[in-house]
Amino acid sequence: MLSDIIDVLADPADGTPLSGADDFTRLVSESGHSFDVARQGYVTLAAGAGLRHQGDSMEMVLARETFLSRGHFAPFVEAVTAGVHDALDDAAVPDTARPVIAEIGAGTGYYLSHTLDDVEGARGVGMDISVHAAKHLARCHPRVGAVVADVWERLPMRDTSVDAITVVFAPRNAAEFARVLTEGGQAIFLTADRGHLAELREPLGILDVEEGKIDRLLEQAAGHLAPVTEPELIEFPMTLDKESIAAQIGMSPSARHIEAGELARRIADLPETMQVTARAHVTRMGRA
Ligand SMILES: C[S@@+](CC[C@H](N)C(=O)[O-])C[C@H]1O[C@@H](n2cnc3c(N)ncnc32)[C@H](O)[C@@H]1O
Repeated sequence: MLSDIIDVLADPADGTPLSGADDFTRLVSESGHSFDVARQGYVTLAAGAGLRHQGDSMEMVLARETFLSRGHFAPFVEAVTAGVHDALDDAAVPDTARPVIAEIGAGTGYYLSHTLDDVEGARGVGMDISVHAAKHLARCHPRVGAVVADVWERLPMRDTSVDAITVVFAPRNAAEFARVLTEGGQAIFLTADRGHLAELREPLGILDVEEGKIDRLLEQAAGHLAPVTEPELIEFPMTLDKESIAAQIGMSPSARHIEAGELARRIADLPETMQVTARAHVTRMGRA
């Protein structure tokens, strides 16, 4: 709930602290701005003219929920949670300190809720630009507060307020991450690698992950965040039926690039089940 993380949240325009008003139906900042809490429990924290784009559509969020609920990415979620544990251990943060874990581009909250189940007492900020995602985030875990915000803007969080940031296949803003992390805090990134979903690329006509993703992560973060360990490769086979394949494509940008009827025809031509590779790196970074 938002009340769990209110000590982390800040006015998106000027960074002043937010507090709950009228029984947490609004958040108000010290500078007098007011932000309504939606009936579904999330709050949109955007300055000025508001958000410039919408993020994942409702269809993409539902496809993501279908795919993830089948457990196909379980090794990824385990790796991200392990990364958060390592980060908290490195900073000697006990669970009893109610550490704050913020997931940016959090989607349905699958990763964040798993991590919060594992780090007893931790509190979660689930942030996404998509209102459809935020509706899921607001009910993904009792200790999550859901915020609609744009990662490319000033993040609506206070300086040095977050013990760990997780970013799973989502955009990142290293300068802002460095600002909101505690001194010993770390960001944990899961980035897809070339070869991820390789077996689906040709039959479905979807693009491969571009080369050098980790190098670009490190370059973009330079001066703000620095790696604390070597990136760790997570690679495993998944057995996917056609429904899972359709959900996987439906949750990705490919869904927007291939006409729906054509995509359905290509999926219908696939074998009943396929073994498909999942491949990504976990990179942990601290403040530079
Ligand atoms: C590929 S999805 C990953 C979702 C989730 N991390 C997962 O793996 O299940 C990318 C997410 O980033 C969100 N997103 C895209 N642009 C964003 C932005 N500028 N600020 C915040 N979130 C954004 C999308 O709405 C979407 O939920």
